[in-house]
Amino acid sequence: MSQRAVPAPSEDEVRNLLRAVIDPELGHNIVDLGMVDSVTLADGVITIGVKLTIRGCPLRAQIQKDIRSRLEVHPWVTKVTIDWGEMTPEERSNVMSKARWNARENAADTAVPMNARVLAIASGKGGVGKSSVTVNLAAALAASGKTVGVLDADIWGFSVPRMLGMPDRLEAQKIEGSEKPLIIPNERKVGSGLLKVVSTGMLVESEGTALMWRGLMLAKAVEQFLNDVHWGELDYLVIDMPPGTGDVQMGLARMLPRTDLLIVTTPAVSAQKVAIRAADMARRSFLRVSGVIENMSSFTCDHGESYPLFGVGGGQALAEEIGVELLGQVPIEPTVAAGGDAGEPVVLSGTGIAASVFADIAARIIADTPEFEDMAGCSARDESIASVGVTVRRSQSPQA
Ligand SMILES: Nc1ncnc2c1ncn2[C@@H]1O[C@H](COP(=O)(O)OP(=O)(O)OP(=O)(O)O)[C@@H](O)[C@H]1O
Ligand SMILES: [Mg+2]
Repeated sequence: MSQRAVPAPSEDEVRNLLRAVIDPELGHNIVDLGMVDSVTLADGVITIGVKLTIRGCPLRAQIQKDIRSRLEVHPWVTKVTIDWGEMTPEERSNVMSKARWNARENAADTAVPMNARVLAIASGKGGVGKSSVTVNLAAALAASGKTVGVLDADIWGFSVPRMLGMPDRLEAQKIEGSEKPLIIPNERKVGSGLLKVVSTGMLVESEGTALMWRGLMLAKAVEQFLNDVHWGELDYLVIDMPPGTGDVQMGLARMLPRTDLLIVTTPAVSAQKVAIRAADMARRSFLRVSGVIENMSSFTCDHGESYPLFGVGGGQALAEEIGVELLGQVPIEPTVAAGGDAGEPVVLSGTGIAASVFADIAARIIADTPEFEDMAGCSARDESIASVGVTVRRSQSPQA
């Protein structure tokens, strides 16, 4: 589709996209904090007026990067420019009281915490290894000391409970401060980190959960997993997407617009076709694609000979087409499938290349995720922030 054929987004649509940009210090999105002063659209160029609490705010580079990457996914957009402004003392105090209010509202812990990085593992077609990537990535992040939520959004075709060896039924509990019982994720310790997992495969017609899940609809199920689960603190939420696109992804885009998509592909599929499907998928939902993972890249036999069973170059071609990085190439290894069947992700037990590639991808993701509390804040905000009490991402997990 040519640029011209795509209609310009409305100002409201642009503001909606910008709701995915979180001010890391204030823990809320820049639109609802009142930092987006103006939106101007002309000839493929979007100009955003952003008011900072202080002109020289050191978080400016991060905010700029986030604004760009959120808006550039729109096919109409050729350029994003930002006009920086500064708040008046009155506006600054308004923003602080909003942040304070938000901190209070979020205190109930009924949803995905604002500072958790959300990664949805998606693909243009089924059977390429989304679930295998999900569980290995989650396990590798946890092995690095992170607290990692795993949401199995493949509602009818769930495989996460088996792949993580976590078949136990989910329980719902009344949590202090919540009006209704919340689902308690099943937990598994990994090194100094923790996995917190929910899946429809962990549900049963038990007293606690039956009512909650009766007449469940697809999009509704994911919504419940996002809203009615007592996630508690999370560094990451990794979401195993169902094959194809559609409802679940649109639901995610609406409820968690800051979701980053990681696209899994095999070199098998004609790179061009997958690229178009994946790029389309991102465009339709306005989610950001933050990387490509090639799975089933090649098979190396016992004699050391490598066979690219499904061809070569699909991952790289897709990454180039979308303009993101190829985060890793996972070879075909029987231990990946065996680990999935045994409930022990290969990244935790394996010594092969697949295990080390999964670990490398996790390390790249961690390196690419800002530790909010390590960011230099705007000094003039510090006092007010301390009283706001905004939760920041922890650099260490609290588990024993
Ligand atoms: N790198 C690999 N080496 C060997 N086997 C693999 C590898 N990746 C995935 N598999 C196996 O391929 C099959 C499909 O993988 P998986 O279930 O992860 O794909 P999926 O994209 O989640 O599928 P679906 O679209 O059905 O949800 C599984 O049996 C899995 O164990
Ligand atoms: Mg799957």
